[in-house]
Amino acid sequence: MLIKTANFVMSNSDVAKCPQEPIPEYAFIGRSNVGKSSLINMLTDHKGLAKTSGKPGKTQLINHFKINDNWFLVDLPGYGYAKVSKRDKKTFQKYITNYFLQRGQLVCSFVLVDIRHEPQKIDLEFMEWLGENQIPFCIIFTKADKLKPRAIQINVESYIQELLNGVWQEAPRYFVTSSTNGSGREEVLSFIGTINAD
Ligand code: GTP
Ligand code: MG
Repeated sequence: MLIKTANFVMSNSDVAKCPQEPIPEYAFIGRSNVGKSSLINMLTDHKGLAKTSGKPGKTQLINHFKINDNWFLVDLPGYGYAKVSKRDKKTFQKYITNYFLQRGQLVCSFVLVDIRHEPQKIDLEFMEWLGENQIPFCIIFTKADKLKPRAIQINVESYIQELLNGVWQEAPRYFVTSSTNGSGREEVLSFIGTINAD
């Protein structure tokens, strides 16, 4: 799919104040620093569209970006950032869970996991929560440029096996990406293009 335009629309912490246009929406979620904002920039080919940082905790709000004037990409704050206070964590959890539970136009969310890491409890639990609430998701493995192809294959296979050993009877759809070298871009965009066309 060709990205012709990508524009920032708004940031907020209240799902009720998110854009009201009833167009399809895709959201990126995952641990802080996993590469959500970088992936949005890579997919849209717009450096600096979503703010990124080497330090976790950069994205703090629900950020809507309008693509080709007819669908949204949504950059969300990361979870699992140890430095935020308990109170902030609670507030954050509330508005993120509200976002997922109340955003009717959310077509699919992408749960990002760093391809170098073993499956983390927080990600597995989050995916289970999405499943329990019937919120469709795919997995996006990030930072694939950090590993050789063989290691990528081993890590992906063992991740999927871990899901199948857990609550999942079927593996979710997944993509392997790198925001540094652009790998996986076409696959993710054509997946979005296919479901947008349905
Ligand atoms: P929060 O907003 O804090 O939740 O983080 P985030 O998930 O949006 O991560 P962000 O995109 O800000 O990237 C975090 C760090 O990882 C930055 O230093 C990026 O340059 C780096 N990074 C992101 N994607 C990749 C990638 O594909 N490859 C490599 N090598 N580094 C990446
Ligand atoms: Mg971010």
